[in-house]
Amino acid sequence: MNKGKRRINFGSLSRVVKLLLKSYPVLVPLTVVCIIIASIMASIPAIFQQKIFADIGDWYQTGDWQGAAKVILPKIMLLATFYVLAMIAVTVYTQLMAYITQGFLNKMRKELFSRMQNLPIKYFDTNKHGDIMSRYTNDIDSLRQLVSQALPTFLLAGVVVIAVLFIMLYYSLWMTLVVMVGVFLIILVSGRLGGGSARYFMRQQKSVGRVEGFIQEMMSGQKVVKVFNHENHCREDFDELNGELFDNSYRANAYANVLGPVIMNIGNLIYVSIAVIGGALVLLRVPNPGLSSLFAGSIGVLTIDVMIPFLGMAKQFTGNVNQLAQQVNSIAMATAGAERIFQLLDEKPESDEGRVTLVNAVIDEDGMVTEVPEHTGKWAWKVPADVTIHEAGHILHERVENPDYNYVELRGDIRLKDVDFAYNKDKPVLHDISLYAKPGQKVAFVGATGAGKTTITNLLNRFYDIEDGKIRYDGININKIRKSDLRRSLGLVLQDTNLFTGTVMDNIRYGKLDATDEECREAARLAGADDFITRLPEGYDTILSNNGDNLSQGQRQLIAIARAAVADPPVMILDEATSSIDTHTEQIVQRGMDMLMHGRTVFVIAHRLSTVKNSNVIIVLEHGRIIERGTHEELLEQRGQYYQLYTGAFELE
Ligand SMILES: Nc1ncnc2c1ncn2[C@@H]1O[C@H](COP(=O)(O)OP(=O)(O)OP(=O)(O)O)[C@@H](O)[C@H]1O
Ligand SMILES: [Mg+2]
Repeated sequence: MNKGKRRINFGSLSRVVKLLLKSYPVLVPLTVVCIIIASIMASIPAIFQQKIFADIGDWYQTGDWQGAAKVILPKIMLLATFYVLAMIAVTVYTQLMAYITQGFLNKMRKELFSRMQNLPIKYFDTNKHGDIMSRYTNDIDSLRQLVSQALPTFLLAGVVVIAVLFIMLYYSLWMTLVVMVGVFLIILVSGRLGGGSARYFMRQQKSVGRVEGFIQEMMSGQKVVKVFNHENHCREDFDELNGELFDNSYRANAYANVLGPVIMNIGNLIYVSIAVIGGALVLLRVPNPGLSSLFAGSIGVLTIDVMIPFLGMAKQFTGNVNQLAQQVNSIAMATAGAERIFQLLDEKPESDEGRVTLVNAVIDEDGMVTEVPEHTGKWAWKVPADVTIHEAGHILHERVENPDYNYVELRGDIRLKDVDFAYNKDKPVLHDISLYAKPGQKVAFVGATGAGKTTITNLLNRFYDIEDGKIRYDGININKIRKSDLRRSLGLVLQDTNLFTGTVMDNIRYGKLDATDEECREAARLAGADDFITRLPEGYDTILSNNGDNLSQGQRQLIAIARAAVADPPVMILDEATSSIDTHTEQIVQRGMDMLMHGRTVFVIAHRLSTVKNSNVIIVLEHGRIIERGTHEELLEQRGQYYQLYTGAFELE
């Protein structure tokens, strides 16, 4: 029965508590104090009730109602004061709790997001996006549950249980034992029923996840579903998942629903037992030991004025024990969510030990360089003196000689030497790749799908780090270059375009945030995108959403090219950038790209061989190895793989 029961993850729990204390070093202790005050105020009235009943008993015997009123009234006033204090404490702590909880969640979301931004691409390749997403939704919600409900309720109930236990023990050991027997029964029952409920609640959560995942997949895959006439099949699959969800939710709720009434009735049973056993003890004048006997120095008998508040205390005690049992369950569930959040926060961020930076430079007529803070359009690598600069690096002479740094001209000379790479250790993807691209050259990669073309560009960007070999940029090992600066110097048009919610103009400006509207338009003209953009209903102000669903695939790529163009980088990487453009548009883009490529080092990956024909070198890849290289004419002469591809392609066209 206990198999499905979760345990409290104390590591995560203490981390949550520590974080809470760190974030709110004053408010959290204040809240705890208010909770303790509230719970003690809730327990104390029993003592006053007993005293008031005793006074009433005296009055009943003496008939002196005026004297009785004098002693009773102040007690009633004090009792009222306690209730008011309890009310104030509750108001204060609930308000504080709301503020602390929401502030804490806000902070956790912020930390999740900033950690996510620093994770390497590999993390996103190897983890389901829905799973990452659920840390922000489900798991954050379980944290909310923990901080705003489970923990305070646990504390509140815990203090009440301890305080009431002492008060009960003070008055009567026998009666306390009767209550304890009842509590034992309650723990037994709620353990059995609660365990079953928790197990099915967990299954219900999993079912919800499966149903959501299925719906999501069906929405994005509607076209494929319709084309293959899978509607009925999908409905059956959905019915099955939905039925599973029904089963688990039904059982979880059935257990949970029966728990309340059963426990309430055990509570009633205790109530009756106390009335009967207590009544008997009073009538039979059985000696009644309790903590009070210690103070009095003798064991008295049970009196009726103790009995009445005892009934109330028994109810309070069992009710709060029940609360404690339930909160243990919800704390266990919540800490599981907290653990998943901490897992993401503890992921190792993308490491960056690069110390070479990219700086703005002024190069005067004598060829001397000065580093300046403002944008000049000229860039230089600022290389610490202990970093080796290899032969391709053009060292610039500095006007004011600085012994700690050398300056190297940013030219876009890229060399790969004996590069090996694997995404997963056991499955090598690239073998022995050596190539160079001199500044201004155009290097094309061709080869079958899965040959490793995109992978090479992933390495240039340092989305992934190489296993073996060297990659040098202007004579500097790219591992020594700070990643953000390396990426700033590379323009990238990815195989799958990503457009963000915003206007066309915003999306182009993404390449260079301080670009003016005119610069963005100019970039669009260069990319050949201006023509179709101006024909959109709102032109450059057209709002794109859902990754540009309202555009054609080719149009999306043109915007992506314009985005890369506006950054004006010395090196461009175009991955299949023209694959989904029609022949006419292709010519426009081709012209634009030729302009774009002018004076830059360019890596192009294209299946259309016509787009790579004019490259300085064409590299043919097969299964991660370079099998041929040369210019278009040279490769045709070789009559090898390229020749096959080229002539084959022509036959197709
Ligand atoms: N993130 C990844 N994790 C693990 N393996 C990967 C990953 N990305 C690609 N691969 C594998 O690496 C190999 C090369 O993939 P790559 O994307 O470089 O091919 P490509 O030449 O660009 O193909 P295409 O022409 O289809 O774009 C493939 O076998 C692929 O399965
Ligand atoms: Mg690819």
